[in-house]
Amino acid sequence: MLMVDLLMFRNFQIKSSLSNYSVIFIEDFKKNIIKEKSDKQYFIIDRKIYNLNKNFFDKNKIIHKSIIIKADENAKSFENFAKYANTLIKLKIDKNSEINLIGGGVTQDIGAFLSSILFRGIKYNFYPTTLLAQCDSCIGSKTSININSYKNLIGNFWPPKKVYIDFNFLFSLDISAKKSGIGEMCHYFLYSNIDLFNRFMGDYDKILINTQLIHKYIYKSLLIKKNVIQIDEFDNGERKKFNYGHTFGHAIEALTNYKINHGQAITMGMDFANYISYNYKKLSIEKYETTRALLKKNFSKHNLQNYSLKKYISILKKDKKNKDGKLGCILFCENEKMYLTYQKFDKNFIKLVQNYFLFSK
Ligand SMILES: NC(=O)c1ccc[n+]([C@@H]2O[C@H](COP(=O)([O-])OP(=O)(O)OC[C@H]3O[C@@H](n4cnc5c(N)ncnc54)[C@H](O)[C@@H]3O)[C@@H](O)[C@H]2O)c1
Repeated sequence: MLMVDLLMFRNFQIKSSLSNYSVIFIEDFKKNIIKEKSDKQYFIIDRKIYNLNKNFFDKNKIIHKSIIIKADENAKSFENFAKYANTLIKLKIDKNSEINLIGGGVTQDIGAFLSSILFRGIKYNFYPTTLLAQCDSCIGSKTSININSYKNLIGNFWPPKKVYIDFNFLFSLDISAKKSGIGEMCHYFLYSNIDLFNRFMGDYDKILINTQLIHKYIYKSLLIKKNVIQIDEFDNGERKKFNYGHTFGHAIEALTNYKINHGQAITMGMDFANYISYNYKKLSIEKYETTRALLKKNFSKHNLQNYSLKKYISILKKDKKNKDGKLGCILFCENEKMYLTYQKFDKNFIKLVQNYFLFSK
């Protein structure tokens, strides 16, 4: 186990009109669970985390009050929800219970949404175990599940009671999960400070092999997000800018049937948005190309040329941010600011998407 100097990372509180909550850096999630253990605690655990710590969960009888989830997008499907709710009800969960979520963004989305609807809302704590969940999704209170092929279409805002961050979870992540988290961090750093983005991407190769280097970036990423969600909790203004890369990225995830992970799809989505900006003369060729060269380090090997442009456009047409038949997307412009624009699906735009498909590798 890594002895992290936790003094470098101050616990902090997120102010929320629904309920304030704390982000707490811990040395060992097991000790924490034992410390908090009581009859009212229930668990939703990522299957990989359960398998890696089976002895602990079984020996302490936590398994008897748990749902174990194979974390993939299918687990977030609308159809699976009745099953999760039924299991918890059979385990005698009640209004005063608390659910502890231990996993990545999938476990969080499922558990937070379930917590928000069971008994019209119960408390939950979150132990994020992926890089993406530690640097991004663990704060902000969003819950989302999928319906048919529509990603994150159903959901609400439901804050946790506490978020416990144990960096030791990052050791067992595979390279794809690391790249996924890096993708989300890229969009926070580009939003906040291009020098920070440049430094971060300069450290890219080292970060992939040494997860310790990433702790300070996780912390920075959370502080950037904290500032914005406290100003715009419900995504009505400034927070919408965090959708940078997500419109085009979510559609890449859906198009490839989630073969490309979330964060890498978002990295490609940022480059896609920059390509549109450059073509609309909002971004110089120099800035577009230097940013692309850095983002490309985190691209997936998939080639969009192998996928259907028609299907991609039809996915974009169903994006939840669209208004009056126009595509709602965040673009990055020359002065390093981001802005929301509504883009018509006209011939020009479709040609740009087609061109991007042709040269994206
Ligand atoms: N609610 C939000 O604010 C929010 C924000 C961003 C993304 N999301 C959602 O999060 C999901 C992606 O989440 P994610 O990237 O955290 O991954 P994930 O939950 O999909 O997990 C990815 C893989 O990593 C495994 N895993 C988890 N922790 C591990 C560990 N410590 N060691 C080894 N393997 C581990 C999982 O079993 C899974 O196979 C997407 O569905 C996305 O829509 C939600």
